[in-house]
Amino acid sequence: MENIVVIGSQWGDEGKGKIVDILTEKADLIVRFQGGNNAGHTLVVNNKTFIFHLIPSGILHQEKMCLIGNGVVLDPQVLCAEIDALAKENIFITPKRLKISKKTHIIMPYHKLLDTLREQFKSGKDKIGTTGRGIGPCYEDKMARVGIRAGDFQNLSLLKEKIKKALVEKNVLFRNLYNHPGLSEEEVFQEIKPVTQRLVNYLADVSSEIEQAQRENKVVLFEGAQGTHLDIDHGTYPFVTSSNTVAANAATGSGTSARNLKRIVAIVKAYTTRVGSGPFPTEDEGPCGDFLQQKGAEFGATTGRKRRCGWLDMVILRESLRLNGPTELAITKLDVLGGLEEIKICTSYKYKGETIYYPPQEENGLAEVTPIYQSLPGWKEDISKITKYKDLPENAKKYLQTIENILGIPIKIISVGPSREQTIWRE
Ligand code: GDP
Ligand code: IMO
Ligand code: MG
Repeated sequence: MENIVVIGSQWGDEGKGKIVDILTEKADLIVRFQGGNNAGHTLVVNNKTFIFHLIPSGILHQEKMCLIGNGVVLDPQVLCAEIDALAKENIFITPKRLKISKKTHIIMPYHKLLDTLREQFKSGKDKIGTTGRGIGPCYEDKMARVGIRAGDFQNLSLLKEKIKKALVEKNVLFRNLYNHPGLSEEEVFQEIKPVTQRLVNYLADVSSEIEQAQRENKVVLFEGAQGTHLDIDHGTYPFVTSSNTVAANAATGSGTSARNLKRIVAIVKAYTTRVGSGPFPTEDEGPCGDFLQQKGAEFGATTGRKRRCGWLDMVILRESLRLNGPTELAITKLDVLGGLEEIKICTSYKYKGETIYYPPQEENGLAEVTPIYQSLPGWKEDISKITKYKDLPENAKKYLQTIENILGIPIKIISVGPSREQTIWRE
């Protein structure tokens, strides 16, 4: 069996959590390779809802091992809270089941503060609408080579020294730019200290764990967070997150070879949503958008914000294909479209007088395009209990075939509801 990479192909919240959970059946190890607790991955199992921000979505399968790779930014308090919440459900996350790379960067209290202050000080149109979890500032420190990594928790005097150094620059910003009194080395250290000993137990060499698994012919499932168009390089910059969300980063972000990424599953929500600011050509601010928002219960799993909703966008997806190279698609939330008279698919854009099939490459070019739509007939039936492709209404099949024809990639998984059973497999 081949390793599997699962990535989001739009602006996040495509249903990666659910798909990772069901694909975990076919895997032995599940690895998060980027992002942090800006992610909110929802699983519905036996009528219980779980939302994971850091722990890989394979964790409910008791016999599988979950790994947090070097590419992740980890808020230790959030991770501990997640482990404690699961313990209340009698799911015990021992260091045998969860391992954290010593190279994983730690989100510190000053990262969260900087994220929040920066957003507050921006004027309306410049606000990114971050999740306020300190993601950007933590990745900045990583790149500036002043970050604190999980492995540093093994040496508290080194940790203290690093906090001291980091605060020199941060406090200048807090005090002189953001009218904030700043943070002291001691208060930051005391805040973080209680969780350090706990996390030390989970430290491991993730790269070597994966290598060992490969040698034993085990299957590794790489779980992406966010979505392709939130990628720091290829997304709608500057309205993006601060990591590479594309499939290739599964290798860098976990410490394995690109040769180990074989099967790539791109998750496509049957319509489009976006949380936070930034261009969204197919956004529908009228009744259809409201319908999708309400029927799809489109509220952020992390911040609770209402998600912006609109039609499926093939231009965005075409770019996702070339960036990720998926071997197959998983379509989620198809059930939500049921009841619409007409369903629209954006097939190209008008941009500066021309028809284009890929997004413009200049910054914010996407804000200036006009989507061109193809119209398809909807269906009235409730499809949320259907488990076989042949039982889908003809118009639902037509919708799926149109997507396959335009993108030229097979749809192997169709999700028609949040729970595990509400899945149509087309292997
Ligand atoms: P992720 O971040 O990509 O894991 O997605 P989220 O968990 O943030 O958002 C997806 C939401 O849709 C969650 O509330 C899921 O429970 C729900 N969901 C997933 N698949 C389906 C589906 O096929 N139909 C419906 N109605 N809901 C789904
Ligand atoms: P999952 O994994 C949807 C968005 C934020 C904001 C931008 C930058 O659940 O799909 P950040 O806090 O990362 O600096 O915010 O990115 N964003 C997401 N949107 N799903 C996510 O994760 C997201 N993670 C970040 O809303 O617009
Ligand atoms: Mg989410």
